[in-house]
Amino acid sequence: RRSLWLDCDPGHDDALALLLAIGNASVRPLGVSTVHGNQTLSKVTTNALKVLQLLGCESVIPVYAGAPRPLQGSLEQSNQTCPEIHGECGLGGPRLEECAVPPRTDVPAIVAMHDALKKAYEEEGQRPALVATGALTNVALMLSVYPDCVDFVEIVFMGGAVGEGNTGAVAEFNIQTDAHAASIVMEHGTRMPVTMVPLEVTHTAIATKEVQASLARHGRVGNVVNEWLAFFADTYRDVFGFLDGPPVHDPCAVAFVIDPSIFTDVRHVRVDVETASPLSLGQTVCDVRGKYGRGATRSRNVNVCFAMDVPAFWRMMDQAVDATEQSTRV
Ligand code: BDR
Ligand code: CA
Repeated sequence: RRSLWLDCDPGHDDALALLLAIGNASVRPLGVSTVHGNQTLSKVTTNALKVLQLLGCESVIPVYAGAPRPLQGSLEQSNQTCPEIHGECGLGGPRLEECAVPPRTDVPAIVAMHDALKKAYEEEGQRPALVATGALTNVALMLSVYPDCVDFVEIVFMGGAVGEGNTGAVAEFNIQTDAHAASIVMEHGTRMPVTMVPLEVTHTAIATKEVQASLARHGRVGNVVNEWLAFFADTYRDVFGFLDGPPVHDPCAVAFVIDPSIFTDVRHVRVDVETASPLSLGQTVCDVRGKYGRGATRSRNVNVCFAMDVPAFWRMMDQAVDATEQSTRV
């Protein structure tokens, strides 16, 4: 069983990433940290706890609130949230009960992440995964404060785009939300495994009407998932013109940890993040063909996923919804 820590900003697809990490028996969630992004830190932390409570895990998986804002920029500039996609509360759709368990405050989030990941490595003898499905602020802080992480952690993040972006012509939301943090994380990729699951992959994970109907058949949890997807489908249709259903980005990164073999095209290339240009702030510049000198073998830093076996991914999701429904049935 592989251990993982999930750093997220729930968010509909983050909620599904949590569900997959909890519902798949081959991974063990060590903890959850939250980060500014889809909504304010306080809202996404509330949402993470509600999701864990829905899945019956609020007392066993600790939740820590991490960074409320990106590494750089004034407070006004850095209040980038996206209510048009995830709603004012950050997880629009079904009404979920308030969680009776509060977020943990015994240590800061990055201390909890570091300590849990290090302990897992020492006990299991393999690198646990730090899966990030929001801005990379917490991850960059942890790597900066604890440089020893390069020796025992693997990072897998949802974010970036090789080509077209979703929050600008070439930038993806999670990376643009804290481009400086993303740049720090990429720089560490020459010394530790870093995998990027970009829009090229996640835009193939479309929750079509058929997928939605299939997931909905799993009782109470299936119903909530269906309501999340219905909300997400409406906003993605209105904002981006997705007519077949919404792309569920974040669980794709968890799927990579569970079974990397379903990712059918992964290339180790040089990736840099644009941090200066207002035109392309947050672009993940991927030197796919090694054209610009920095693509030389020694400077390659990121495993970039280009394609995924989509039916295999949905089978994984379906099993996880079923498993969480079975385990919470009273
Ligand atoms: C990413 O942006 C967020 O809105 C989603 O939760 C996902 O992590 C997709 O660009
Ligand atoms: Ca997210």
